[in-house]
Amino acid sequence: MAFELPDLPYAHDALASKGMSKETLEYHHDIHHKAYVDNGNKLIAGTEWEGKSLEEIIKGTYDKGAVAQSGIFNNISQLWNHNQFWEMMSPNGGSMPSEVEKALTESFGSVDKFKEAFAAAGGGQFGSGWAWLVKDTDGSLKVTKTENGVNPVCFDQTALLGCDVWEHSYYIDFRNKRPAYLTNFLDNLVNWENVASRM
Ligand code: FE2
Repeated sequence: MAFELPDLPYAHDALASKGMSKETLEYHHDIHHKAYVDNGNKLIAGTEWEGKSLEEIIKGTYDKGAVAQSGIFNNISQLWNHNQFWEMMSPNGGSMPSEVEKALTESFGSVDKFKEAFAAAGGGQFGSGWAWLVKDTDGSLKVTKTENGVNPVCFDQTALLGCDVWEHSYYIDFRNKRPAYLTNFLDNLVNWENVASRM
């Protein structure tokens, strides 16, 4: 069965008052995410990856020694990344369940210190990529950054939170101000209930 583009879990204009416009979501979900779905399906058709799960394909095609990843990896990992990303935001974002606050404080010293580390990771990613909060294989929480479509699945980590720092994610609303986009994401857009459910 071919992969499908999931609907956004909210209306296209639902995040507009929180700093992510309808136009951004129309381009980002309806055009960019759809392209990863369509290209991914095309590339895996007739290969050993057809019928496998997204995670199986990501783990099976990630080449840790490569300067550039394959087309199958790039499109399927970006398909997965965006599936997570929409769920990680909410029109009611902002408030944090106590278990998340406790875990972030234990791991990073405070919620603010976590936000600083996450924003620094996203701001410091040269070119396209993602900033992540992950649960590592030893159970510890870490902030990481990855290039292009690379994601925590490649390293057997659990993605608790991810922020897309490709220009297509922020250029309409924030132009070249990636740090402002990251701060707004952390303060106004994150669905902390979703983060709690991933812990
Ligand atoms: Fe994106």
